[in-house]
Amino acid sequence: MKPNLAFLESLARQAGEILRAGIDQHFQIDHKGVIDLVTEMDHRSEDFLLGEIQQRFPTHRIISEEVGLVEGDERHIWYVDPLDGTVNYAHGIPFYTVSIAYAEDGQVRLGAVYDPSRDEMYTGEKGLGAWLNSKPIRASKAQDLDQSLLVTGFPYDIRSNPETNLDHFVRFSMRSRGVRRLGSAALDLCYVAAGRLDGFWEIRIKSYDIAAGGLIAEEAGAIVTEVDGSFDYITPPCSVLAATPGIHAQMLELLESKGMQAE
Ligand code: IPD
Ligand code: CA
Ligand code: CA
Repeated sequence: MKPNLAFLESLARQAGEILRAGIDQHFQIDHKGVIDLVTEMDHRSEDFLLGEIQQRFPTHRIISEEVGLVEGDERHIWYVDPLDGTVNYAHGIPFYTVSIAYAEDGQVRLGAVYDPSRDEMYTGEKGLGAWLNSKPIRASKAQDLDQSLLVTGFPYDIRSNPETNLDHFVRFSMRSRGVRRLGSAALDLCYVAAGRLDGFWEIRIKSYDIAAGGLIAEEAGAIVTEVDGSFDYITPPCSVLAATPGIHAQMLELLESKGMQAE
């Protein structure tokens, strides 16, 4: 038996409801690093999701942010981010998601990203399309970087790793309509898919951050690569450049002009 999109959607919705109900309650916050947080709610959402996936598909492999690797058949891999946007969540900012992807034979086939604050369910299925609350979505028609709205993010080791992405933030800010830093990579990708934003890039990102959103963006017509233009953005180490076709090459050119590579 194989999973279907309805199963991923149902899991994302239920985990999202756990998060939505908990955001204004007291919850514990721990540090994984100086600025890298994990809340009690990350764990609660993850416990729920992994429990459900393991019950239905006990032989499958799972890569999930807090638990790490759950060994299993590598032909069936789940990528789970139980709470993408933890820093927003810990500050009570309603911009966070649940992100779930299923890959078969090395290819991401199904993806669901749920934004509980807006009740927005983004889904994608390889070769079949991408949807927001069951309605088809398309990436924007932007052709010109100058008039594009972009988004990026920064790695948690920004204070210790000299490759900060700040230089590119400055350069893209000077070359576009603006650069947002919204705080959930999965949702950033879905906003590119829905045509709300025109392009997104980030370095030192994790496969569970981008597997579902990457598929959704691709299925909505965006081009999704690493920041050096290579197409396998799921195998670590990961970076991502997702943009509507009209500006992907312009973004790539600007990223490559300084030789930024995935690390
Ligand atoms: C983070 C968010 C953020 C991105 C970071 C991610 P988390 O995920 O997606 O937008 O900039 O790189 O680690 O920690 O909130 O699950
Ligand atoms: Ca994440
Ligand atoms: Ca997370």
